[in-house]
Amino acid sequence: MLANFSKNFFLRVSRNILLNKAAKKWGLRFGASQVVAGVTIESVIKKTQELNEKGLVCTLDHLGEFVSNKEEAIEATDYNVRTLEAIEAAGVNSHLSVKLTQLGLDIDRDFCIQNMKRILETAKQTNNFVRIDMEDYTHCQITLDILKELRDTYDNVGTVIQAYLFRANQDVLDLEGVRLRLVKGAYHESPEVAYQNKKDVDNNYLKLIKNHLLSGSHTAIATHDHEIIEKVKQFVQENNIPKDQFEFQMLYGFRKDMQVSLAQEGYMMRVYIPFGDDWFAYFMRRMAERPQNVLFGIKGLFSK
Ligand code: FDA
Repeated sequence: MLANFSKNFFLRVSRNILLNKAAKKWGLRFGASQVVAGVTIESVIKKTQELNEKGLVCTLDHLGEFVSNKEEAIEATDYNVRTLEAIEAAGVNSHLSVKLTQLGLDIDRDFCIQNMKRILETAKQTNNFVRIDMEDYTHCQITLDILKELRDTYDNVGTVIQAYLFRANQDVLDLEGVRLRLVKGAYHESPEVAYQNKKDVDNNYLKLIKNHLLSGSHTAIATHDHEIIEKVKQFVQENNIPKDQFEFQMLYGFRKDMQVSLAQEGYMMRVYIPFGDDWFAYFMRRMAERPQNVLFGIKGLFSK
């Protein structure tokens, strides 16, 4: 019960507009620096270099979501373009992850698509790949519609499917051939649209992973769950799935030893690295997921 209370509390706080605005001025606080790599492009490129040296590849996420005016969305687009250019200039091995609400999805769909096309054009020129993160359920259908539209012109773009959603299985079937990151799902969704029980989510998650792998599509298995990872290792071996058809992904700062050991075993291991001053909502979602995160958050209250 306490775990549920804490989860709901942090998910609600993550959406608080005033706190999100205030946090931009605070700098990284409450232990957020353990899961957010820094506030500038320079700092995140340095971290990427360090992780590359350990055999890990990365994807960079310039934090920000639910942008409500065009200036901010254009600024975020410019920042993403500069991040891709910095990846190219430094010669580091990293993709880019973006959220459509940061690029103006809640303001104007076509404006958001134009912003996304600018990013994809730079990614194409720099031979890179961009993944559209999946946000809450209210943005799911429109995100998939936009992905399909973008894929008419660009093949260097993919997205994320959340296993807690009832619709996930059909979405994975519809997206055969698309590079998908499969996750359990991080938002608070209603029982009308999403499984509420961890066991149901885990079962559906494994089913999606197996289906996408068997269809021959590139699959990113993004989880810190060692039991799921073990089952995937066994499944790919039994079904002769080549190692370049899938990768594991974990968030920056989580299960660092396991990240390195998976890379040492010869698996592609990608670290998702969030950075930037808009860290609050992301950090609160990580607190919601795991009581241990709350502990380091509380410790962080007393240090910068
Ligand atoms: P879960 O939290 O269910 O943990 C399962 C078990 O694993 C735990 O019981 C524990 O035993 C072990 N474990 C987990 N974390 C551990 C730790 N730090 N140390 C030790 N043991 C640990 N969500 C979304 O909605 N949209 C998105 O676009 C993305 N993108 C994304 C990218 C990447 C790279 C990742 C890893 C995750 C996301 N997510 C996401 C978040 C995702 O949906 C989910 O909320 C979190 O990954 C938490 O679920 P897990 O699968 O990690 O396992």
